[in-house]
Amino acid sequence: MGYKTLCFGFSCILFAYCLYSPIPENIEERWKVRYVDTIIKVASRMATLFENIGLMKYETIFSTMATFYITQAVSDENITVIDTDFSGIPVRLYLPKRKSERKRPAVIFIHGGIFVFGSCKTTDHDSLNRHTSNKLGAVVVGIDYRLAPKHPFPAALEDCVHVTKFFLQENILSNYRVDPSRICIMGDSSGGTLAATVTQLLRNDPEFKNRIKAQALIYPGLQLIDTFLPSHREYEHGPILHREMMLKVASLYVTRDSSLTQALLRNEHMPEGSRHIFKFVNWSDFLPEKYKKNHVYTEPVLGKLNASYPVLVDSRLFPLLANDSQLQNLPLTYILTCEHDLLRDDSFIYIVRLRNVGVQVIHEHMEKGVHGALSFTTGTVALQLGFKIRDRYIHWLEENL
Ligand SMILES: *[C@@H]1O[C@H](CO)[C@@H](O)[C@H](O)[C@H]1NC(C)=O
Ligand SMILES: *[C@@H]1O[C@H](CO)[C@@H](O)[C@H](O)[C@H]1NC(C)=O
Ligand SMILES: *[C@@H]1O[C@H](CO)[C@@H](O)[C@H](O)[C@H]1NC(C)=O
Ligand SMILES: *[C@@H]1O[C@H](CO)[C@@H](O)[C@H](O)[C@H]1NC(C)=O
Repeated sequence: MGYKTLCFGFSCILFAYCLYSPIPENIEERWKVRYVDTIIKVASRMATLFENIGLMKYETIFSTMATFYITQAVSDENITVIDTDFSGIPVRLYLPKRKSERKRPAVIFIHGGIFVFGSCKTTDHDSLNRHTSNKLGAVVVGIDYRLAPKHPFPAALEDCVHVTKFFLQENILSNYRVDPSRICIMGDSSGGTLAATVTQLLRNDPEFKNRIKAQALIYPGLQLIDTFLPSHREYEHGPILHREMMLKVASLYVTRDSSLTQALLRNEHMPEGSRHIFKFVNWSDFLPEKYKKNHVYTEPVLGKLNASYPVLVDSRLFPLLANDSQLQNLPLTYILTCEHDLLRDDSFIYIVRLRNVGVQVIHEHMEKGVHGALSFTTGTVALQLGFKIRDRYIHWLEENL
């Protein structure tokens, strides 16, 4: 009883405190965003407290919260929904019931959740994929890849690659009546990271070179070699995604050793000898003037971390580290960004780099947008912005896939 009261009192204080946290003026449905942001901040503070007193790991609160939203595979009048596995990896399939003369397009969907939580089966993703399948008459494949920290890098990526390659087999495509020339890979947030990497890997694999027609990346994270890009600084405290939480959770994809998190927070995590890759994030060449403001690009301090993680210079972890020849001939690319998003500048850099090597990029920018909105399309905190992003993305698919 005493413990519960204590927790309740603590939550109240945090809640009041968080309500005062500043939220940019120019945001759609500002109060709803503030509400969601507050819940995330309270959860994060509680998670830190619980971790400090040894009750549970920081990330457990978030992964537990995500599991509350997992849905069963329920078919409706238009779509048959099936949980199965491809090559041993769980997937959820959305198969249109409508008869069609033409073969169907397909979307391979990779969910976000900072590599540590979430599922393609949660309410928000389930509803997005159902909607996509219905609107496009498309087969949608949601991948339930393995999560960190239990399964660190490259488990998630390997699962996504395996599922994609399995699906791309001729007999599998024809089994689902999929047109092999109309396949898109899509991901949001860290799902966008994985989608971008899978697309790069397939593009550089002779057997799969031209098998993907398009990639769609919704506010993806594309690098953490420099954690002080202008958007990282300006949206350090969110809304929705904030720097400390993001780095704490994301570092679990590499290691459980919290010294990496500490180094990431100070932007002193990159090893000696990695200077040559900073040309990919030196944003003085890439960002529009309005985002540079009074920020000055400074190269991070190298070689301070007393542990070696060779993966930090691996483009399979950070797709922005792929060199120009690896980016050439990537398929048609759709990137959606939000103004008020920590990860915003990653995309702006990637877009310039892709266009510089001749990749066709369609870029939609939500001037009043916040990170993660696509995950708020169900329940009481549904954001209009979420529906807007969904509809733009699906409209783009209708025109281009
Ligand atoms: C089935 O598709 C029709 C036509 O697109 C739509 O009006 C209806 O709402 C859909 N049903 C469900 C359950 O989504
Ligand atoms: C970053 O890029 C700008 C423009 O190309 C260049 O002048 C500057 O020296 C670079 N900074 C570092 C630290 O490499
Ligand atoms: C750094 O690593 C070396 C070699 O593994 C070890 O001997 C040393 O104690 C470490 N220093 C710190 C401050 O952790
Ligand atoms: C690009 O990276 C690939 C793979 O790491 C490497 O084989 C290739 O030589 C690099 N190309 C250039 C131009 O640096």
